[in-house]
Amino acid sequence: MKFDLAVLPGDGVGPEIIDEAIKVLLATGQKFKQTFNLRYGLVGGVAIDQAGNPLPPKTLKLCQTSDAVLLGAVGGPKWDDPRARTRPEDGLLTLRKKLGLFANLRPVKVFPALVDASSLKPKLIEGVDFIFIRELTGGIYFGRPKREWQTPQGRRAVDSMTYTEAEIERILRVGFELARTRRHKLVSVDKANVLQTSRLWRQIATEIAPQYPDVELEHILVDACAMWLMLNPARFDVIVTENMFGDILTDESSILGGSMGMLASASLAGIPREETRTLGMYEPIHGSAPQIAGLNIANPIATILSAAMMLRYSLGLTKEARVIERAVEKVLDEGYRTSDIMGEGKTKVGTKEMGNLIAGKVGG
Ligand code: IPM
Ligand code: MG
Repeated sequence: MKFDLAVLPGDGVGPEIIDEAIKVLLATGQKFKQTFNLRYGLVGGVAIDQAGNPLPPKTLKLCQTSDAVLLGAVGGPKWDDPRARTRPEDGLLTLRKKLGLFANLRPVKVFPALVDASSLKPKLIEGVDFIFIRELTGGIYFGRPKREWQTPQGRRAVDSMTYTEAEIERILRVGFELARTRRHKLVSVDKANVLQTSRLWRQIATEIAPQYPDVELEHILVDACAMWLMLNPARFDVIVTENMFGDILTDESSILGGSMGMLASASLAGIPREETRTLGMYEPIHGSAPQIAGLNIANPIATILSAAMMLRYSLGLTKEARVIERAVEKVLDEGYRTSDIMGEGKTKVGTKEMGNLIAGKVGG
């Protein structure tokens, strides 16, 4: 089969890690006789520089007419001026919103070979295997008003956290459905002791729970959840939460997998099902890491695993996705490490070498 892929490398380490993911994809395509038609587009800071807009209409069109979108990272100090009219991140947020990608899946699975790479005790993280579902197109990221203004007492700024019943219900349903395909345990994270949006969130979760009698629902406050993730991460199966809580908790959770460079993500417009094809965007959870851009030291694995998720959720290529995941596992088992996950007695490799090793295992 032939698939049209929108490829958006973005800023910082984005282009380097995307190159390696493409290498692995092409090796997979060759092995399984699948054709990936790569269509590159601009997003983020490079798009501001070259087209005056972090999401040029051409890029949006490209994504809307593709089978899936693979994205590197956006942002960097060059575009950080607080008075700037637009930021690279606006491109990413608009893309998520315009494509309707409300469900962001972030699996946290510890590779056995990396148990020692985490700063946490091995016995704590052995067997950790859970998935975050982060609401991605609502909440404080998008709520209006959102602005800064001058008052007689000085400057003032406001962000608004808003959610509708429909927005909350559809993301919670993704949580319940996904829990059904796993260990049937759903944790819903909120701040219902303080926030009105969270109280609505909790009410709706409680209301729809009887429709999923096979799923055990537990409510946890976000601050307590942050603690439990470090205290007993193995207790989690599926965690569903709103946009900003999910942003924060997933960075925290990346410590479990050894590094931010290991965590992949899928952003979807509906309930994910293997073997069906829905438009999605796939990106590592880490940022553009401008301080290490161009040095061939960034870890490409999060992006490579995101490409595997793309095969699974948007292209219906489950077998191919598994081959990539196994290739990553084998290369880690053989002791190859980028510097962020380096450990005693292991073999240090660069971004390109890591990509070559994984592509080699896929083809071999
Ligand atoms: C993420 C990132 C983005 C977010 C930034 C780059 C806007 O941190 O995908 O987690 O906050 O959603
Ligand atoms: Mg983040």
